[in-house]
Amino acid sequence: MSKALVLGSEEHKKLLCRTFIDTHDPFKPEDIRWPELDAEGLERLKAMPVWNEATRTEAATAVKVQSLGDTEKDPLLAEAISLQGYEEGRHADVLRLLTRHYGIPVMPFPEPEVPADPTRAFLRTGYGECLDSFFAFGLFRLGVDADLFPKALTDVFEQIMQEKARHILFIVNWAAYLRARRPAALRPAFDLWRAWNIAGQAFDRLKGALQMAGGGGDKDKKEPKGSPEAPDRDHTQAGFTLKSHSVFGDFSLRSFLETCLNENERRLSPYDPRLLRPTLVPSVVRKVVYVLPRRNASSKGPEEKAA
Ligand SMILES: [Fe+2]
Ligand SMILES: [Fe+2]
Repeated sequence: MSKALVLGSEEHKKLLCRTFIDTHDPFKPEDIRWPELDAEGLERLKAMPVWNEATRTEAATAVKVQSLGDTEKDPLLAEAISLQGYEEGRHADVLRLLTRHYGIPVMPFPEPEVPADPTRAFLRTGYGECLDSFFAFGLFRLGVDADLFPKALTDVFEQIMQEKARHILFIVNWAAYLRARRPAALRPAFDLWRAWNIAGQAFDRLKGALQMAGGGGDKDKKEPKGSPEAPDRDHTQAGFTLKSHSVFGDFSLRSFLETCLNENERRLSPYDPRLLRPTLVPSVVRKVVYVLPRRNASSKGPEEKAA
């Protein structure tokens, strides 16, 4: 194989699709053996403020991704994108089985809608995953290192984390492939369209983070006030937020971001180096880390300083 990969070439398409297809793990969610959790572990799992949002998002993402798989004309791209749609649906199934097994209440949600523009939906959701997974990789590492849950449970999520790495590797190369296939004169418009959609996704996450900071927890704001699950869920989520610092151990923002950077690189390292990697979030975070103070004995969270 030649050393340099020409973006938009047949070789680029084959490499990005084959890498994705050949690294697919055909596990079945129903074969997962869920480990027993002690009372503390179960409380911790239930308190994670993610189950409603994650279950809904995975189901919606599966429909969005599959809609592009169904309409894509190129057979190899269609195969890879449909496989990604299947994996997203499998994420939703894993979450459904987990929440059922451990008795975690999840609010019902309407059947996700098929997008009118599958290409745009795939791009948006893919870049959204680039933003989310960067921090998810770091948080997951902290959770594993802190032995928050039995290995049998973290192994299930290890698989999902690595699938996220494959998904973001695919999206950035797919977008670069689409861009390179366009005549040079149309590429600035593509860049603008892509940047606009990435900014939209970043804005959504900022809004979600502000809601979390304001005590909103799992960003499900449409829940009826009288819902029987609501008080318990709010209680446990508040508990998780309050306890998470002690649960994960003492860490500074800088060390957390460094963990995210390292994990991001590690998770993407097994794949062909000629494929593009997501660079936007890592490059911004690297700049942030550069200006953050190094951790020292006096580096404590704001609430501890105030105490
Ligand atoms: Fe997913
Ligand atoms: Fe994904």
